[in-house]
Amino acid sequence: MKLIDTHSHYNDEKFDNDRDEVIQNITNSGITTIINAGYSLESSKRAIEIANNYDFMYATVGVSPNDIENLENNYIEQIKEMAKEQKVIAIGEIGLDYYWNKENKETQKEIFIKQVELANQLGLPIVIHTRDAVMDTIDILKNKVNCNKKGVFHCCPLNTELIKEGLKLGFYISFAGPITFKNSKNAEEIVKMVPIDRILTETDSPYLSPEPVRGTRNDSRNIKYIAQKIAQIKNMPIENIAEQIQKNAKTIFKIT
Ligand code: NI
Repeated sequence: MKLIDTHSHYNDEKFDNDRDEVIQNITNSGITTIINAGYSLESSKRAIEIANNYDFMYATVGVSPNDIENLENNYIEQIKEMAKEQKVIAIGEIGLDYYWNKENKETQKEIFIKQVELANQLGLPIVIHTRDAVMDTIDILKNKVNCNKKGVFHCCPLNTELIKEGLKLGFYISFAGPITFKNSKNAEEIVKMVPIDRILTETDSPYLSPEPVRGTRNDSRNIKYIAQKIAQIKNMPIENIAEQIQKNAKTIFKIT
């Protein structure tokens, strides 16, 4: 069975001591593809460097709403320059986060929109991070900026309105550990809402380990628990789910 992790952070310091070893173990475990996501200028640079070491790894570059403090003025030029690298397949993670940052909503919106415009200019899809900001995220994508290549709601919040609007706008929905959590009330309802040709799987490693390994450092080998949960809810063989998700990832990210 071929599984894919469309969003992880091997650029995180939690992997500094054993990064190569972990990635080597993942290579041997049937994971075909990993996308290493940037969230700041520095982490984007690192995401590319690490992806360059492994055939099966790609990178995204962008500035997340939680990393905009002291952002350099020429950040768009810097992201644009990084996006020229062969391994870069999307702009992200970008978006809005009013859970961690409520004081700078207008700045978050402005930086989000500028990066969507850059993605359009480069012909790349976007990877969206949104938390406690559903209405503003939808408003931006519907009314403030055209997103030419669409993209992905990463670690998608289990919010019916967001999923409904996201699907209507043509986006993919990427599920992570939270759909396996015992206290997630509506995971089943949400996964049922998303047609299988619009679903992606991710770990968001090193964070958000799924059940039954919740609380440990997460890595791409745990993607199987997320795929299993989707298979169970969709009442389909996991092999078929895995195959469809491969197709979806190839379609949106243009990877082989
Ligand atoms: Ni992330």
